[in-house]
Amino acid sequence: MLKQNVYLVGPMGAGKSTIGRLLSQELKLEFIDSDKEIEDRCGCNIPWIFDVEGEQGFRDRESQAIDDITQQSGILLATGGGAVNRPENRQHLSARGTVVYLCTSVEQQLARTEKDKNRPLLQRPNPKKVLQELMVQRDPLYREVADIIVHTDESNPKLVVQEIIDKL
Ligand code: S3P
Repeated sequence: MLKQNVYLVGPMGAGKSTIGRLLSQELKLEFIDSDKEIEDRCGCNIPWIFDVEGEQGFRDRESQAIDDITQQSGILLATGGGAVNRPENRQHLSARGTVVYLCTSVEQQLARTEKDKNRPLLQRPNPKKVLQELMVQRDPLYREVADIIVHTDESNPKLVVQEIIDKL
């Protein structure tokens, strides 16, 4: 049964923002992108936060945003790829809404993120290896919080949205 809020989890380049926007229109929910919300609250962009405050500083801001947003209702939240790292985030997401894991291959992630300079973790040497390692760590965590799992590799966003609606 559909609980009121919907939260999209999954790795960078899974399509959380694109699918989130479309799905929010279909479900008449307010779309919030976690990274954008963090940037708006801070008044600076994600690379700046990583540079100045480190990844830890970014994760603190991310946890605060997730806690606040998941206490609102009528929300569709696209989380950042690392949102599942902290147990308190996983707890808030699974207790306060329906969690959808957008599952995709490392090859697709690379193709969708290769020109993006706004993701500090992918500015390191060998982004493919970074994505593979993150996938090994995080795939079990995405699965742990997910109520629904949808693959986004082959399908176009509209088909993915329909598949999610059918499963809600
Ligand atoms: C991150 C994913 C990014 C962003 C930050 C860290 C991660 O969000 O939160 O760069 O740890 O996987 P997207 O998944 O929306 O790219």
